[in-house]
Amino acid sequence: EKGTYPHFMLKEIDEQPFVMRNIINKYQNENGKLKLDDDIRKAMTDADRVYIVACGTSYHAGLVGKQLIENIAEIPVEVHIASEFVYNMPLLSKKPLFIFISQSGETADSRAVLVEIKKLGHKALTITNVPGSTLSREANYTLNLYAGPEIAVASTKAYTAQIAVLAILAVDSAHAKGIELDFNPMQELAIVANAMETLCNQKEQMENIAREYLAVSRNCFFIGRSADFYVCLEGALKLKEISYIQAEGFAGGELKHGTIALIEEGTPVIALATQEHVNLSIRGNVKEVAARGAYTCIISMDGMQDEEDRIVLPAVHEYLTPLVSVLPLQLISYYAALHRDCDVDKPRNLAKSVTVE
Ligand code: F6R
Repeated sequence: EKGTYPHFMLKEIDEQPFVMRNIINKYQNENGKLKLDDDIRKAMTDADRVYIVACGTSYHAGLVGKQLIENIAEIPVEVHIASEFVYNMPLLSKKPLFIFISQSGETADSRAVLVEIKKLGHKALTITNVPGSTLSREANYTLNLYAGPEIAVASTKAYTAQIAVLAILAVDSAHAKGIELDFNPMQELAIVANAMETLCNQKEQMENIAREYLAVSRNCFFIGRSADFYVCLEGALKLKEISYIQAEGFAGGELKHGTIALIEEGTPVIALATQEHVNLSIRGNVKEVAARGAYTCIISMDGMQDEEDRIVLPAVHEYLTPLVSVLPLQLISYYAALHRDCDVDKPRNLAKSVTVE
């Protein structure tokens, strides 16, 4: 039930700090140690390559997951869109492990891949919000998101839950491989939960940005580099699906290779600048688009901010920045849709769970 909330989407955005804390509790035992099945640990450490397969928002979580698993657990990862994988299967490694990421666990495109790879004798782990779902039942292993039912068609809390669980999985695999880490996922996720709470209390600011930038715009671009780029893809998807504004996420460095031609006087460009190692280059991109008339909005992180930034996110561990940078994008999309009188929870032409290929 929505309770006092006008929409499920807003309620689900607000639930994200609790979801983080729930995940910390579910995946930690009394001694503060990670609690994952031995079978899953073995499947991860036996694999010479992980293939993440998903659609839409879950695919975007997979892109972040690739960075986490490669950096933390040192296992190579490929991320694939399920509907493409099915007829364009890559050359597989000798010992692949498949990870299906699916909020609903019912997505037909992902299921079609699972059926194919099982025929080849490969193992699969499903990360889902619905434990008894088809993808969960048909895979060898399941990790639950513990996000609670997600009702709004636009996925919000499932995305952040997916990334949190992927971070825990990566750390568990690293421990099993004897990799020394100075990253405690539970401590860092607790910091993330607090940061999310702070942002959930800044709704007025997000609403103002939505009104100022998106009340009448035809289009909007999101730019970022490294992990920020992946979040830009998700921010753009959120905005398109609920506000019907043509939105695209671009890698900052790709602008000059074509897309900068789209910038006109007043084109809204939202830039994420939460990655220390590319902070200067993304700010350079912002200057380039601003010089061509773009109406720019920078979202940065504490410690990296500049006076002109519109939102400064509370600092979190560099591995986990997508968990907080996505939140203003979710809220800006929500308020943009609201201002444009769109049906926020049930956007046109879309279904919550896509059970046809
Ligand atoms: C976007 C959205 C969709 C889903 C996609 C996959 O907000 O909800 O893009 O992420 O249809 O769904 P699941 O995760 O249920 O497999």
